[in-house]
Amino acid sequence: MLQFTNLSKTYDDGTQALKEVSFSVEPGEFLVVIGLSGSGKSTLLRCTNRLIEPTSGSITWDGLDITGADGAQLRTIRRRIGMIFQHFNLVKRLSVINNVLSGRLGYLDTWKSMLYRFDSEDQTRAFRALERVGLTEQTYKRASELSGGQQQRVGIARALMQQPEIILADEPVASLDPVLAHTILGYLERLNKEDGITVICSLHYLDLVQRYATKVIGLRDGRVVYRGTSEDIRTMTDAEFKDIYGQEAERVGAGLAARTPSSASPTGAPSSGSGSLDSGSTEGAE
Ligand SMILES: Nc1ncnc2c1ncn2[C@@H]1O[C@H](COP(=O)(O)OP(=O)(O)O)[C@@H](O)[C@H]1O
Ligand SMILES: [Mg+2]
Repeated sequence: MLQFTNLSKTYDDGTQALKEVSFSVEPGEFLVVIGLSGSGKSTLLRCTNRLIEPTSGSITWDGLDITGADGAQLRTIRRRIGMIFQHFNLVKRLSVINNVLSGRLGYLDTWKSMLYRFDSEDQTRAFRALERVGLTEQTYKRASELSGGQQQRVGIARALMQQPEIILADEPVASLDPVLAHTILGYLERLNKEDGITVICSLHYLDLVQRYATKVIGLRDGRVVYRGTSEDIRTMTDAEFKDIYGQEAERVGAGLAARTPSSASPTGAPSSGSGSLDSGSTEGAE
């Protein structure tokens, strides 16, 4: 279990991005972090593998103190945590396969990683990772030649190379259109269900949250203002939603009102939660 206890982050300029954040994540969970832009989602995800140093509080992982880990321990921890980014973070001039292989760098000795020297086992692993995300035919293309959705699938394959126990996905579909959003989240869901990889993912759109999350944390101004299951969020009222999204709820909530079962039908008849993304997928379109 991953346990966040009173985690706070104050940046050098005084911005308090996280304030006493506490929650836990069970193994195999698909935890979604929601909240407006600036609410602290990226900071929280990046504190998890200490790409950002928390100011106070702790994160423990099955008794292992992530926040107190030294250099060598941190390297081992980071190996066990894969990461996927909104803008994919590929090396565009490199081939797809080399981008995927770079996910293995954390396992190599320094000199081997400097030479990009991967053994045949790693190469086999990379081919298999590409196969899993349906990109076998793109193996030797330059990353820059791929579409956005394909690039994010390379990002997933790269994370898989770490054989991670946790994947952190920071708004992994925010740069993609709604159909591609489901494709990408579908791959993440498969890794979550088939491999038991714990997923911690920030998402902007409520219908995606309803469809994929097993547990939800809502952040506002760096504080946890909501905790629930996907079932809870399916029946979330506009008032609760406003509580998370504050004064900007109007704008985001307009798309929500058209989509959630609770507001669409008085009986709260559940809908699939998919295929109705268009109204909410362009921020500020309403
Ligand atoms: N490097 C930084 N230095 C100072 N403030 C930052 C930095 N990174 C983020 N912030 C601020 O911290 C708050 C939370 O940001 P962030 O974690 O990026 O939120 P989100 O991912 O939800 O948009 C925001 O007010 C943001 O401006
Ligand atoms: Mg962010």
